Amino acid sequence: AVFEATVTAPVNIAVIKYWGKRDAALILPTNSSLSVTLSQDHLRTRTSIRASPAFVTDRLWLNGEEEAVSASKRLVNAITTARSLRAELERRQRQQQQGNVVPLSEWPLHICSENNFPTAAGLASSASGYAALVSALGALFELPQSASELSRVARVGSGSACRSMFGGFVAWQAGAADDGSDSLAVQVAGHQHWPELQALILVVSDQKKKISSTTGMQTTVETSELFAERVRTVVPKRMAAMQRAIADRDFASFAKITMQDSNQFHAVCLDTYPPIAYMNDASRSIADLVHAFNTALGRPAAAYTYDAGPNAVIYALEGDMRDLVELVTYCFPRPEDTTPEAFYPDPFGLL
Ligand code: DP6
Repeated sequence: AVFEATVTAPVNIAVIKYWGKRDAALILPTNSSLSVTLSQDHLRTRTSIRASPAFVTDRLWLNGEEEAVSASKRLVNAITTARSLRAELERRQRQQQQGNVVPLSEWPLHICSENNFPTAAGLASSASGYAALVSALGALFELPQSASELSRVARVGSGSACRSMFGGFVAWQAGAADDGSDSLAVQVAGHQHWPELQALILVVSDQKKKISSTTGMQTTVETSELFAERVRTVVPKRMAAMQRAIADRDFASFAKITMQDSNQFHAVCLDTYPPIAYMNDASRSIADLVHAFNTALGRPAAAYTYDAGPNAVIYALEGDMRDLVELVTYCFPRPEDTTPEAFYPDPFGLL
């Protein structure tokens, strides 16, 4: 017997950043965060999982290459948590004397996961990756849990993954419980709430990032005084203001808070010791260009945000996106045969 499920999961880009853990094993954050889930047309992870009593052990293929499941504690955690939910379901089914309970929780799994974009380039691949894994396990195991409940399982794989369990606008509530039971994602609004909002991704570099989010945020928690202030006073205020901006489809407020929060996140990274610089000269030129665009139009028409890497995501409303793309391609021409790295000369190999 072979049982199989295939799902896809989208990427999300935070407008209020998650950075810092209060519990590294359970992946509990120091602050709430909020993101926009992108459409799956361009960036997504597709994951197929098969379960069979004939399989010998759990196996995983990432973009066609086999990886040892046991090498990743987070992966093992996520699979184990989903399996225990399935075992609970099977127990209930047996108690209710339902015939033919399939012991899927005991069968080894073969997991195949594919991104249609570069992994670990600061393009949130772990987010869509773990969201797809957990959604596929939920489908395969026919788990009765809601998407919010399953987001807790995605969270133990990678924090930002819990937000990719929903489309549209999603808040990850930090929660207060030590066991993580209230640290989960909720949908703030569906994507149809604000269909004019679009995201432009500018890949400055598709190289793997220098310092992983996991390592970077740990050092920040340990060393940055600015970070403590951000968590205590800034983020709670911004979470509320951002939810209001989204509810009112108020792009001016949405844009300002998005850029301010990205800038504060990167300021906190620089305040970390030793400092972490994720943005490079190209990233900063793009930010300058967005401000120049907004000044020229006399209103906030575009907003940039950067994660743990140099790539930019720019949000704008549909009516302004065409002009923005034209401006960006004019200012940053990219001949077909030139890589972005070659275009921004890096004589010291520091980028
Ligand atoms: C800068 O979710 O990748 O993208 O929980 O350790 O897996 P782990 O970290 P991760 O961190 C994402 C950080 C960020 C901001 C965000 O997405 O909110």
